[in-house]
Amino acid sequence: MSKSPSTVRFAVVGDIHMTKDGAGSLRAFFAQAADAADALLLCGDLTDYGTAEEAHFLADELSSVKVPVVAVLGNHDYESGSPEAVIDTLKKAGVRVLDGEACEIEGVGIAGTKGEPVIKLFVQEALHEAMKLESALAKLRTPRRIALLHYSPICGTVEGEPADIFPFLGSSRLEEPLLRYPVDAVFHGHAHRGTLEGRTINGVPVYNVARPLLLRKRPDQPPFHLYELPREPPDTETLVGTVSASAAAAAHGHH
Ligand SMILES: [Fe+2]
Ligand SMILES: [Fe+2]
Repeated sequence: MSKSPSTVRFAVVGDIHMTKDGAGSLRAFFAQAADAADALLLCGDLTDYGTAEEAHFLADELSSVKVPVVAVLGNHDYESGSPEAVIDTLKKAGVRVLDGEACEIEGVGIAGTKGEPVIKLFVQEALHEAMKLESALAKLRTPRRIALLHYSPICGTVEGEPADIFPFLGSSRLEEPLLRYPVDAVFHGHAHRGTLEGRTINGVPVYNVARPLLLRKRPDQPPFHLYELPREPPDTETLVGTVSASAAAAAHGHH
């Protein structure tokens, strides 16, 4: 697997669940993922208990990765009640942590949020993560877009888990913004025993990239999903003549 001038490649994986005991064990895995792709995308449950210590170990494992790393948090990153410690540590290590935010990698827009379904609270709160996803998607002006989540927006990729816990594994409310702001692909984790691939009702592919699932379902392949999008020709937009000066400047800044 080598990098390509005509495509942008993403290595995507969730549910690393970094622990103190795991220190040192993921370096080769991250190196392999970074070698295959132009960026590394992490779908939450980065740590096991959400401690700064675990985040430091993860940052250390990622330190040899020279491609951009973009992440969303998962429920385990909240386990200690101090997700900001995890975020701070990773941000200092150069990881872009998205919480209802968006970023751009080589012309591909990435909107990210945890997407946790809030089941017992008020409807307004249940809508909160969907709104964060929507506002992140609304910021993107790129022709190619990816949504990065920890929880699933559809049932298809949590099948395989006990049906009675489906409501805790995802939320169809997350699907609504994806219908209004179509993306090329959605990635999520969390459902360790779910299904690798499904589709939203408008046909967008949804990939469950929980590392334990990848390890179990594709034992012959490295446990990340390699996703490829065509690279937009850099001058297409300027030829159209309607692009703003700043967007054109941004497009030229990507070499
Ligand atoms: Fe997990
Ligand atoms: Fe999770």
